[in-house]
Amino acid sequence: MSDHQLVTRQAGEPDAIENRIAALVQEMSLEEKIGQLRQVDATGDSISDYLRREITAGRIGSVINQINPALVKELQDIAVHQSRLGIPLLIGRDVIHGFNTVAPIPLGQAASWNAELVRDAARCAGLEASACGVNWTFAPMIDISRDPRWGRIAESLGEDPYLTAELGAAMIEGFQGDDLTEASSIAACAKHFAGYGASESGRDYNTTNIPENELRNIYLPPFEKAVEAGVATFMSSFSDIDGVPATASGFLMRQVLRDEWNFSGFVVSDWNSIGQLSVHGLTENDREAAFQACTAGIDMEMASNAYIDNLADLVAEGRITIATVDEMVSNILRIKFSMGLFDERLAQAPAKLETIQSNAFEVARKLATESVVLLKNDHGVLPLDGTALKSIAVIGPMADAPYEQLGTWVFDGDPDLSVTPLQAIRAFAGDNINVHFAQAMPSTRSRATDGFDDAIAAASNSDAIALFLGEEAILSGEAHSRADISLPGNQAELIRTMRTLNKPLILVVLAGRPLTLGDVLNDVDAVFYAWHPGTMAGPAICDLLFGAAAPSGKLPVTFPKVVGQIPTYYNHKNTGRPPESDTVIHIDDIEIGARQTSLGMTAFHLDAGYKPQFPFGFGLTYTDFAYSDLTQNSHELRSGEALRLSAKVQNCGARAASETVQLYVRDLVGSITRPVKELKGFQKIYLEPGEIREVAFTLDTDDLKFFRRDKTYGAEPGEFHFWIGRSSEDGLFSRFWFKPA
Ligand code: NOJ
Repeated sequence: MSDHQLVTRQAGEPDAIENRIAALVQEMSLEEKIGQLRQVDATGDSISDYLRREITAGRIGSVINQINPALVKELQDIAVHQSRLGIPLLIGRDVIHGFNTVAPIPLGQAASWNAELVRDAARCAGLEASACGVNWTFAPMIDISRDPRWGRIAESLGEDPYLTAELGAAMIEGFQGDDLTEASSIAACAKHFAGYGASESGRDYNTTNIPENELRNIYLPPFEKAVEAGVATFMSSFSDIDGVPATASGFLMRQVLRDEWNFSGFVVSDWNSIGQLSVHGLTENDREAAFQACTAGIDMEMASNAYIDNLADLVAEGRITIATVDEMVSNILRIKFSMGLFDERLAQAPAKLETIQSNAFEVARKLATESVVLLKNDHGVLPLDGTALKSIAVIGPMADAPYEQLGTWVFDGDPDLSVTPLQAIRAFAGDNINVHFAQAMPSTRSRATDGFDDAIAAASNSDAIALFLGEEAILSGEAHSRADISLPGNQAELIRTMRTLNKPLILVVLAGRPLTLGDVLNDVDAVFYAWHPGTMAGPAICDLLFGAAAPSGKLPVTFPKVVGQIPTYYNHKNTGRPPESDTVIHIDDIEIGARQTSLGMTAFHLDAGYKPQFPFGFGLTYTDFAYSDLTQNSHELRSGEALRLSAKVQNCGARAASETVQLYVRDLVGSITRPVKELKGFQKIYLEPGEIREVAFTLDTDDLKFFRRDKTYGAEPGEFHFWIGRSSEDGLFSRFWFKPA
């Protein structure tokens, strides 16, 4: 048993819990056992007779999608008081980046690089949700996403295994709290295990192609970290991997999750993903699908009935042993016991929503502020001087869109709580600044230009123009992938029209993914990338626009110039012919990007070079940070020892601001080819003007280990490069050698 097992981390003696599980399982009939493995959709304004009957009969272990507190209480009462064994229910809900109060989409949260705030936001979401009786969320989604066409990149924490692992663990800690038995703690779910983010061409649910070294070195580390953080549950992915849908993958669920990582919680399928094994063409019918999923190690079936309809027969036929069923039930009961569901938890009075909410607003606002990335700021056009400015034009379909600013996966998000950018700017402006608003387009997708005249009028009467463009919530999220990820509709045309007015032009993008901004970048003076910032979008953006706060977001994902560059990510391999410069060469007016180097022709796109639009880790602010004095306590690292690597960072400008200092490492030679850079640490620091701080990282051999050619994990001796800097493309550089003995 590993020392990070959930049951040892949570209140309650593990042995006592195991004894209680064993005693209960012994009392259960086969039907009751199989009932625990079943989650049923409980959507609706009342409890159906069917649901009532099935819970009473002990044929349901969990429900999903009921958040009416009175109905949830009634459901629990039926389970606890009317079923034979009184086993309480898990009440599941997708509480992804908020409940009624909504924080930025997870991709935006990742841009904050602030684990503490991310933890706080999950805590707030858990508090709000648990007040309605929800005790299990299907978050965090820690799928590595290298493809911005994929709609679910919005739900992800970006492209980097380390950043995703750190922030995913923070979310788990936030949802689950210090003590899982508290009524305000909800069980988290690490999803989607595994590889969903690699869906080919970013088309949702698509097949994936991930070699084992890539799977283990890139896609799995955040999940292993989730187990270390004590996550209660895992969800299998819809996608298939190496020809086997994840829901039928014993390699993933048994070998990796249980045998290698000692996970002691339970695994839930995704929605009908057991039934869908037959659609994948892996099985002929639900009976075989149930057999495969059960054999692979899926403990609970979400929404469909393959288990409840078939498991008893499979046991009778001797194809599934009763020991397997007992193990599945025990995994689920372990979480129910660890959560205190059999004890006082259900009797605890839920916290009052109103008291929770004011804290949630504050956290949502802070996180929204820290999630915004300043991509461009020519001539220091930002921040705007609120004392000198007489008027501002606020233009665009995302300026006053209370629902759209919340982003995807906001089942319970309350748009009435939203403060929009227009509202916040008006409140800030008061009587001192005239605010001229024009929506300009009915939606971001619109091709209509008849609203442009209003926009021109508003802008002509103003000292500066703030354009709120991007994508509505519906353009990202599950099953909402795009093939063209430029600004939709006529937005680029609107920008060009605004440019002709020759006023300071600030673009604020609200979107669920990186967009290919292309020429638009040349048409504006400044760009804020705000993602979908959630309930407090308005105050956060207003604070940044007028300098009450300084931007501190850094990109958690690479921004491509054009779709054809995808996938583009900073931790790529070197290849045998790496490009040496991004110069696009013109011959006879045709762009020829390929470049002759000492190694021969290199890997350019003729029409896009090889660099992305913006690199991972990039983000500007209202001051300059100078990096200096790179130091290391040694040039050699030996097994069991650690290196101390540090640099000094000084705020050289006139404004206080935060900087995320990033540590990258490159392993020069490996038994498999290694990435050109890997993030190994980051620290977000706040510096007053002139202030200087030393930022130190420790690095040990564990940090250098990877899945090697011989299929073992470990670090390999040799030369390593490292950088401490402000992004994946910028940093002070030095080297060290790993010498095991
Ligand atoms: C399907 C999604 O893939 C998953 O992430 C979600 O938690 C479930 N549906 C439940 O809504």
